[in-house]
Amino acid sequence: MTDPRKDIARIIVSPEQIEQRVTELAAQISRDYAGQGDLYLIGILKGAFIFLADLSRRLEIPHIVDFMALSSYGKSATSTGAVRILMDLREPIEDRHILLVEDIVDTGQTLAYLYKTLQGRRPASLKTCVLCKKARDQAPVPIDYLGFTIPDVWVVGYGLDFADRYRTLPYIAELKREIYAP
Ligand code: PRP
Repeated sequence: MTDPRKDIARIIVSPEQIEQRVTELAAQISRDYAGQGDLYLIGILKGAFIFLADLSRRLEIPHIVDFMALSSYGKSATSTGAVRILMDLREPIEDRHILLVEDIVDTGQTLAYLYKTLQGRRPASLKTCVLCKKARDQAPVPIDYLGFTIPDVWVVGYGLDFADRYRTLPYIAELKREIYAP
């Protein structure tokens, strides 16, 4: 197996910065939802699985974890296609407090679609928690809890991938351009 680190141009967010920010976000979420019963955390596969695992273990409030998997038609290095649900939630979310957990907002299309779809299921409340958001024009989506704003480059690590690789790198890093645009 080749070393994935050789394909990294630079580290954008270090493991220490991630750990600190995830701890801060979990503390803030724990405060905001204290006394409201179970929080329903929805992780969006695949990219959010590492962020969700770390965030949920730091929460100090009762919560339930569930997942959705989505697919974007025609997604490439430069564009996102239409979104569809590949795997839905196990239970209805009506009257529950929902926190959507995403790894990244790029164009914002995925989060906008999810927000609209879940809002239609009449939850008690719906908020979003996003690890990183690119500094670029995006669909108007509400981000209630944000980890980092990052440059508009192809990023991998801490759940983020290119062609399903690099997800387990411990940092968020820019991928060398020759890897995704040879
Ligand atoms: C990524 C990411 C977000 C979405 C963000 O998912 O996890 O869900 O893209 O992009 P957008 O803001 O332009 O819509 P991807 O489709 O790459 O799947 P993955 O999570 O399985 O890697």
